[in-house]
Amino acid sequence: MKDFLKNRKILIGITGSIAAYKVLEIIKLLKESGAEIFPVMTEKATYFVTPLSIEISCGNKVLIDMFQEPLSHIELAKKCDLFLIVPATANLINKYACGIADDLLTTTLLAFRGPVIIAPAMNWRMYKASQVQKSIDYLKNIGVEFVGPEEGCLACGEEGIGRLVGAEKIFEAVVSALTEKDLKGQHVLVTAGPTRGYIDAIRFITNRSSGKMGYALAKIAKRRGAKVTLISGPSNIEPPEVDKFFRVETTEEMLEKVMESIDSATILLMAAAPIDFEPEKFYNTKIDKNSINSISLKLCPDILKEVSKLKKKPFTVGFSAEAGLNTERAKRKLREKSLDMIVLNDIIQKNTGMQSDTNQIIMLYKKGNKFFEEKTELLPKEEIASLILSKIKELKVGK
Ligand SMILES: Cc1cc2nc3c(=O)[nH]c(=O)nc-3n(C[C@H](O)[C@H](O)[C@H](O)COP(=O)(O)O)c2cc1C
Repeated sequence: MKDFLKNRKILIGITGSIAAYKVLEIIKLLKESGAEIFPVMTEKATYFVTPLSIEISCGNKVLIDMFQEPLSHIELAKKCDLFLIVPATANLINKYACGIADDLLTTTLLAFRGPVIIAPAMNWRMYKASQVQKSIDYLKNIGVEFVGPEEGCLACGEEGIGRLVGAEKIFEAVVSALTEKDLKGQHVLVTAGPTRGYIDAIRFITNRSSGKMGYALAKIAKRRGAKVTLISGPSNIEPPEVDKFFRVETTEEMLEKVMESIDSATILLMAAAPIDFEPEKFYNTKIDKNSINSISLKLCPDILKEVSKLKKKPFTVGFSAEAGLNTERAKRKLREKSLDMIVLNDIIQKNTGMQSDTNQIIMLYKKGNKFFEEKTELLPKEEIASLILSKIKELKVGK
């Protein structure tokens, strides 16, 4: 269970768009993260999604009519931490920009003084209307955050910009808006996923790394205000929104990209699992299975070793996948590769390490000549990422 929104109160405004049913998925994500949701619907929204569904999924009474509970607009505006409008119609955006307050939603919105996030959804013709664009520009100028819309197939059958963005993106915008930006000013360089060593045009050696741990680190670092560069080997999962994203295949390519980006990085998180050895010879064709008996291997470049040779290095964290939580090998790596910290995870234990959504780690670091070890509980990888980043912050800049 991720508790990123524990004790947070979120106002959700739902307006009359065909995409209104999608709000149910967003409510689910917000609730799973511990938020309490207070829903307000426009009268037109009730044509598209039933108040009953909204009320049941939020677990709080849905308000529509301004006179249903007089002063609810002020009470809601006072007690909530964030106002999310999803989906937002052209009508709502224009009304909010003009300060119109003619129903409960717009009145509450005008009274609300905290962060506002708007996720628009409409046909591209409406979205591109100069009135809508002018309202969006004005609202952005006064600090309102917009998520989307995106390009794609619209409900009316046309293609274009106007689709509501995915639930995960809206969820991330909410969590990010409510997260302290304690890594602002840091440039975090993260490597993630496996690498490949090609045998021939279609066959390669790799490992089971999924990229989940590195992606979680990049996502949480971004959420906490850092500039993030993510260098990823092949992974099937959707990368998080970061400042720069590079996709690589081989360990050599990963090394090259790390070296290209390292100068401006203040923190390097080597969460990737580059293969240690690769075929000595590459056949630029498909090898006939009868023509080969064995494959000779050679060592790949050791990225951390190369980084350790640099004069000016960021705060460098290595990740060590070990069979069992024996810290001796990790300590040796910490010393030999002059790391600032090493994160050790067990590849044998169930629900930890490669491919798993959860992890249990030991963080190892040195203060003076003394080694320190901190073992975490078994937690979702995003929470593990949070703990790692907090520890780095503490070691790098002090508490
Ligand atoms: C079937 C249908 C779908 C609609 N979808 C949208 C939409 O996706 N976005 C939008 O801005 N307006 C859409 N509208 C128009 C709005 O419902 C209309 O502008 C309404 O006045 C919005 O009211 P509200 O902003 O108070 O909810 C749609 C209308 C209909 C009949």
